[in-house]
This record gives sequence, structure tokens and C-alpha cells, in this order.
Amino acid sequence: MHRSGKLSISNGVVLDRLGYGLYKVPADDAHGLCTLALEAGYRLLDTAAMYGNEEGVGRAVRDAMSAGYVDRSDVFVTSKLWNDSHGYRATRAAFEDSLGRLGLDYLDLYLIHWPCPGKDLYVDTWRALEELYSEGKVRAIGVSNFQRHHLEKLLSHTEVVPAVNQIELHPLLQQESLRKFNAEHGIITQAWSPLGRGKLLTNPTITHIAAKHSRSPAQVILRWHLHSGGAAVVKASSQQRIGENLRVDDFSLDSVDLAAIAELDSDTRVGSHPDLVN
Ligand SMILES: NC(=O)c1ccc[n+]([C@@H]2O[C@H](COP(=O)([O-])OP(=O)(O)OC[C@H]3O[C@@H](n4cnc5c(N)ncnc54)[C@H](OP(=O)(O)O)[C@@H]3O)[C@@H](O)[C@H]2O)c1
Repeated sequence: MHRSGKLSISNGVVLDRLGYGLYKVPADDAHGLCTLALEAGYRLLDTAAMYGNEEGVGRAVRDAMSAGYVDRSDVFVTSKLWNDSHGYRATRAAFEDSLGRLGLDYLDLYLIHWPCPGKDLYVDTWRALEELYSEGKVRAIGVSNFQRHHLEKLLSHTEVVPAVNQIELHPLLQQESLRKFNAEHGIITQAWSPLGRGKLLTNPTITHIAAKHSRSPAQVILRWHLHSGGAAVVKASSQQRIGENLRVDDFSLDSVDLAAIAELDSDTRVGSHPDLVN
């Protein structure tokens, strides 16, 4: 089964470059869709306290372990601290709540979901994540939606460098300078809404390239993400799409395709601006 390769965090923890994302997956569907994703070959599951579906995600992992087709160590589970739980004490409690809902002994990756600059508590929040990491409750800690200035403040006040910065990233928002800053600091950039939340699937540039390679638009966009060594978490709600999104290793984009996709970069977001979320 192709999973498009792996990336190593500086502490030796390894994660798949392509993961299954669960934003807007209803709680009642999470177990079924995660089970389909695990059966299709995904080993990285991306949930969050805010998604309200951690219980189903954890149950799917535990059921797959009971069925004997994965070990806990094969699966990489990410969850995220929601904006209402910033601050040292609230973070410690929110982490335990997430772990309890998941029904797991440890998390693979715990992210601060948004920096929430209006609260200005992300340094204290990070100190709680550093403790959880040193206690072995989470194998890696990271951030999401952090821009350069949030990272600079975090790096200058804390010890552990975030393993991952999960950010909105797709052909309409290519994030070159933030990706470069992340890379310079050993931080893995992981794309969220890699398909522009589906918006890019009918883009004429993308559909043209898809027709040329006899692939789907989603496959072309995911190939683009992986082309330059990137990582992404992608959501889909059917067995067919879940499987299709993993089959991206058997073709390449040529220089003409890459130049055309580069032209799509237009600072266009499908989600919120990180400085405006609190
Ligand atoms: N850290 C953050 O702040 C943050 C924010 C947003 C998202 N995320 C993470 O990133 C993940 C992905 O982002 P996203 O869910 O917003 O958007 P996305 O993965 O870019 O796009 C998902 C949309 O594309 C459709 N789709 C997927 N594969 C398809 C295919 N092969 N053919 C046709 N349509 C397809 C899906 O439809 P169906 O579902 O109907 O199949 C859904 O409407 C999330 O699930 C979440 O884990 C993180």
C-alpha cells in the first residue's frame, strides 16, 4: 500500500507524509470513516478537540488493533488543543480530556490549534506541552496556524522546537516564506485543506493537468504537495475518495505542470487568518 513516504522529526519520530483529516467529520461517522481509512492504508489520523469526533477516532484505532491488522505503534494519532483551553493549567486538563476521549495511552502528536494572539497565552500553553512531552504522554509536540512572528516569540521563550507547524497550504496559498522559515528551524510543514477544501478540484489549470495524466484533480493536487517533500492531511468521506487520495505515487508532474500550478498562488485562503482567530 502506497503512503507516499515518511518524514522524520528531529527526535527520531517518523510520520507519514499523507494523513487522513477529520475536520467536519460528524462524531457518528468518525469510527466508520477512520476504519475505512486504516483499511485503505492511512496510518496518520488528524483530529482535534474542536472536531468533536476524538471518541470515534480512538475507537477505530483500538478496534483495528483488536482485529490484529495494526499495532498501536503503526498508527500516528494527532490531536489539537482548542482555543478555549490556552494557558498552562487548562492545557494540562484539555490534553487529559482528549486522551480520555480517544481511549489511548499516549498521543503521537499534540498541536496548539491556533496561536490566539489576542489571548497571548501560547508561550504558557507551550510549557504545558513541553511537560507532557517530557513525561512521555505525547511523542511529539507542535503548533498549527503559527505565522513567523508567533514562532519567533515561541522559539525565543521556550526549549523544545515545535516538531510540526500545520498550516493552510494549497496551490492558491503556497506559503513559500513560512515553509522556508519552518524548514530553517527543523519544523515540518504539514498542509491543512490541501485541496483548498475541495475548491481547487474544478480549477481549470488543475483539471487540465489531471486530464493530461489521466488522474483525478485531487490526485494532481496531492502529488503537487508531495513533489517538493511536503506533508498533508486530507479529508474525504467515501471509500472511493479515501482510496483515490492515497494513489498518488505512480505518476509525476513535469516542469510545465509545476510552472502552471506555481501561477495559481494568489494568497487566497479557504480558512481564517491566524492573526484573527482568538
Ligand atoms: N489545523 C487547522 O486549523 C485545520 C483547519 C482545517 C483543516 N485541518 C485538517 O486538514 C484536513 C483537511 O482539510 P479540509 O478537510 O478542510 O479540506 P481538504 O482535505 O482540502 O478537502 C476536503 C474536501 O475535498 C473533498 N474531496 C476529498 N477528496 C476528494 C476526491 N478524491 N474527489 C473529490 N472530492 C474530494 C471532500 O469531499 P467529501 O468529504 O464529500 O468526500 C471535502 O469536501 C482536515 O480534515 C483537518 O484534519 C486543520
